[in-house]
Amino acid sequence: MQILDTLVQDFTAELKNVNKTADLLNLKAKYIGKQGPLSDVMKNLKSASVEEKKIIGAKANEVKNAIESLVSEKMQEIELAEINSSLEKDRIDISLTDSVLNKGLQSAGFHPVTLVTREIEDIFISMGFEVLDGPHIEDDYHNFEALNIPDTHPARDMQDTFWFADKKHLLRTHTSTIQVRGMKERKPPFRFVGPGKVFRCERTDASHEMVFHQLEGMMVGKDVSVGNLIYFMKTLLSEIFKKEVEVRLRPGFFPFVEPGFELDIKCLICSGKGCSVCKHVGWVELLPCGMVHPNVLRHGGIDPEEYNGFAFGLGLDRLVMMKYGIDDIRHLHSGDLRFNQQFKSF
Ligand code: PHE
Repeated sequence: MQILDTLVQDFTAELKNVNKTADLLNLKAKYIGKQGPLSDVMKNLKSASVEEKKIIGAKANEVKNAIESLVSEKMQEIELAEINSSLEKDRIDISLTDSVLNKGLQSAGFHPVTLVTREIEDIFISMGFEVLDGPHIEDDYHNFEALNIPDTHPARDMQDTFWFADKKHLLRTHTSTIQVRGMKERKPPFRFVGPGKVFRCERTDASHEMVFHQLEGMMVGKDVSVGNLIYFMKTLLSEIFKKEVEVRLRPGFFPFVEPGFELDIKCLICSGKGCSVCKHVGWVELLPCGMVHPNVLRHGGIDPEEYNGFAFGLGLDRLVMMKYGIDDIRHLHSGDLRFNQQFKSF
């Protein structure tokens, strides 16, 4: 009984110095654990009389409950203190300082590629196209095989590819992968565009980057013609440049279209007379396109005897550069705020 009498008091005294969870658990074990004084009392109880057992047993229980409730109180206290101190330590200042405001960062803006992408998406949505997305990390099948570029085809050399170590996955070299995914998920007739980043192991200069942007387009139905292709491309380009544009098609080779074309527009700077922008030919190459190859339709689960279609791959970076007068493609991924901020008001 003597031991029990002082136990809670001693415990309370020692508890004052504890402020870590681990120390608290140790202290608890010291008093009411298996090797502690309370257990000793209980073990010795065997030799006591029935009357003594009753009294001492009740007291021991009382002591145990008292200590346990002190422990849980203290536990809450410690947890709260830990939360408070981590809140204090990891504090993030989300207020804008004067110096930031003065630099003009107070309002966010969109990257020029985003601006142009959205504008083009709107134009296509108004012409009944869906807007699709696709993964940046692709497999050989979606990037090459399904687009009629088999393993040993020399066309693979046209796109220097970033391969993953497993030699099966890659960073997509073009948005044509979206054609494959889009076809498999729908039944003709359909029309969609798919904008996004593409990656090629290019030597960089003012007009070449390793990461750039394309917007893929595809329309599949019955009796789709080159005339339809020209109509949609002309409408798109006239909307983008806000004036009537003249286009011409030249033959171009891409394994996934037949026939394939390079679509040029009459130079908007010199109206075709010849200037430095069009390298004195009067026309600017803008957009590869063509009629979808039957093998590609088959890979997409579409019967080429019944349906056909066109596809195009618009290079967005060049368009952005023409629209805003940007002289070096590398600005686009520089992350330089002096560049990005110039588009804030657009
Ligand atoms: N995917 C081709 C490229 O990046 C462009 C293209 C798309 C050509 C669609 C024709 C049709 O080179």
